[in-house]
Amino acid sequence: MPNDQLQVYWKNVLDSAVGAEHGLKETELDALTGRIARIVDDIEAQRKAGTLPYRDLPYREDLVQGVEAQTAVFKRGCENLVVLGIGGSALGNIALQTALRSPVYNLLPSAKRGGPRLFVIDNVDPVQFSAILDLLADQLDNTVFNVISKSGETAETASQFLIIRDMLIKRLGAEKAKRQIIAVTDPRSGTMRGIVDAEGYAALPVPDGVGGRFSVLSPVGLFSAAMCGIDIRELLAGAADMDKRVQARDLRKNPAAILAAVHWLMFNRGKKLHVMMPYACQLKDLSDWFRQLWAESLGKQKSLDGKEIFTGPTPIKALGTTDQHSQVQLYREGPNDKVITFLAVENFAMDVTIPDAPPSGQDMAYLKGHTMAQLINAEREATELALVASQRPCLRVVFPRINERTVGQFIYLYEMATSIAGALLNINTYDQPAVQLGKEYTYALMGRQGFEKMATELREQLRTDAAYLV
Ligand code: PA5
Repeated sequence: MPNDQLQVYWKNVLDSAVGAEHGLKETELDALTGRIARIVDDIEAQRKAGTLPYRDLPYREDLVQGVEAQTAVFKRGCENLVVLGIGGSALGNIALQTALRSPVYNLLPSAKRGGPRLFVIDNVDPVQFSAILDLLADQLDNTVFNVISKSGETAETASQFLIIRDMLIKRLGAEKAKRQIIAVTDPRSGTMRGIVDAEGYAALPVPDGVGGRFSVLSPVGLFSAAMCGIDIRELLAGAADMDKRVQARDLRKNPAAILAAVHWLMFNRGKKLHVMMPYACQLKDLSDWFRQLWAESLGKQKSLDGKEIFTGPTPIKALGTTDQHSQVQLYREGPNDKVITFLAVENFAMDVTIPDAPPSGQDMAYLKGHTMAQLINAEREATELALVASQRPCLRVVFPRINERTVGQFIYLYEMATSIAGALLNINTYDQPAVQLGKEYTYALMGRQGFEKMATELREQLRTDAAYLV
């Protein structure tokens, strides 16, 4: 589908565009070509050895069939789907829904939606949680709860699940409650797996070796997407299209390698803030998804050979045009420490033409006859050019249109860019040891058995010293 091919435009990171002080020389990229080819080879070798299973998700017919079978069962009569999950067990679901369903999907009547209303609760805010439960309280019969946790241990998801389970059993009885819950979790181990097996819930697997932030193309992201009418086969076909392109050994022919190399070279020059700025509301949650992927994968204390390096870029999400009126002043005149990636859309699915201005407002008449798509794209071009004029390096990822095919490509593109960037940084891209400590502190503070000593120490540290209260 050449018309639906995502493209990366990278000229505006070069010295020819933003000047020698802030731009890359072509020779810097030339110097990386051999290393990139070796990294691509290495990643392919890991994939063949079975140690990088996220790379094969576009082709896992077994997983797709499992999702389709459960969707057929759970979609019947379902008016509300509530996803309970956090981090990699929620961000992809939200991103797919925002990108590929109507912005007013949950407000549409049932027949127009083509699927249940979707609520993804990725927090334990008591007001948010209570409000959603109150809203659904008298619709439990037609509400499905999709609990997603690879480990089955995460306190946020565990607490949400316990509340829902208790409520369903009390209101509907144990047998009926069972039919309203579907879990996505590890197929063999973990607390959630134990509960699924003991209580007989329906379940789909988080495939072995696929970490949360690389799992959106597995049942983690696919079940809620399929329930809401997203064409998951087309999404995976898009990812497979990109898979072919990101295997290229030639840096300049591989869009993931270009993204990784440019960001890495810029990082080494002190441009450690990586902004993703879509000019389409539909893409805004994909930058949230990217934020986790980039931060959790690349922010590491140690290199692969055990040295302390405290490395990692800080990803930032912004939204055009909204954040032109909030962030661009800083991006143009503040420290030149960023790489800004614009997400551009060539053809929007809907458009609105701007009418003429009244005689009293002829200063607005220039807008007449233009469409909103023209305006948002003109603002994007204007902002990129203005940044380039201030020697700020910019990348652009171009979506011919937003659909399952291009979103699948985007996801796979950034997953592979992350793998390559992690290899350039010489770190373990796939672990998150620093998140674990926070999880353990939470267990301690919430009284989990085995964490008593830690709890005492933490409480001592938490004691408020009145001298410092103002
Ligand atoms: O990417 C990750 O590994 C994390 O963000 C996890 O997805 C997140 O912590 C939730 O973990 P789990 O799915 O085990 O509940």
